[in-house]
Amino acid sequence: MQTQAAAVRSLVRAEGLSLAFDHGRVRALNGVNMEVHAGEFVALVGPSGCGKSSLLSLIGALDQPSAGALYFESVPYTSIADYSVFRRENIGFVFQSFFLIPTLSAVENILVATVGRRVSRADYKQTALGLLRRLGIENRAGYFPGQLSGGERQRVAIARALINAPRMILADEPTGSLDSVNAAQVLDLIDEVRREQGLTVVMATHDPEVSVRADRVVYLRDGRLDVSRTTHP
Ligand SMILES: Nc1ncnc2c1ncn2[C@@H]1O[C@H](COP(=O)(O)OP(=O)(O)OP(=O)(O)O)[C@@H](O)[C@H]1O
Ligand SMILES: [Mg+2]
Repeated sequence: MQTQAAAVRSLVRAEGLSLAFDHGRVRALNGVNMEVHAGEFVALVGPSGCGKSSLLSLIGALDQPSAGALYFESVPYTSIADYSVFRRENIGFVFQSFFLIPTLSAVENILVATVGRRVSRADYKQTALGLLRRLGIENRAGYFPGQLSGGERQRVAIARALINAPRMILADEPTGSLDSVNAAQVLDLIDEVRREQGLTVVMATHDPEVSVRADRVVYLRDGRLDVSRTTHP
């Protein structure tokens, strides 16, 4: 029974995960073993180039490992039939650059993530406006990305990541272009959604405030886990 309980708690598991570029000359990740539990908030830290974004892209099934294996609720990624469906159903992404569509307004950019889902557009629009309100930028809903500040664009990207009520958020420096008040607002919203929906969060960050609020800090260096600096639940 204990094994079963442990298996349910594990949302993502990486075993010997490696990612190489340039025919093996660059090793972005080099044999990473780690586990993310359901509902956990993990901060991914380490110097620039240590592999944080690479690890997020593998967990998000945006890239394929060169070696090793990944599991989502014990199911190997290699047996997932359709990665785009897997991502849409399970994962909200906040990328280092926010990838907003310049010709769509803030609220339309959020609704882009809902294409293909079976909920009415009007319901989603209310949810999107509610997220913008909680992020303090409801009055920017009709603005285009070019009319928004960097911090406002970042918050639109966070709302887009949350709109489908994902199981897990993968966020790359989501507080990078925010001042401390707005960064705290984003982290508060993520905390609330974690409490409401049991959201799991993996967040690459250089921000010590994020690490303080995380359940656990995973430290990478040169594509490897620095076990001495990684905290455990
Ligand atoms: N497409 C690519 N082709 C070649 N090398 C790459 C590619 N993507 C990443 N790398 C290399 O892999 C290593 C890890 O990069 P990654 O982007 O994961 O680091 P990071 O920890 O996210 O850094 P930062 O904090 O600056 O965002 C770096 O040495 C980087 O130059
Ligand atoms: Mg990065």
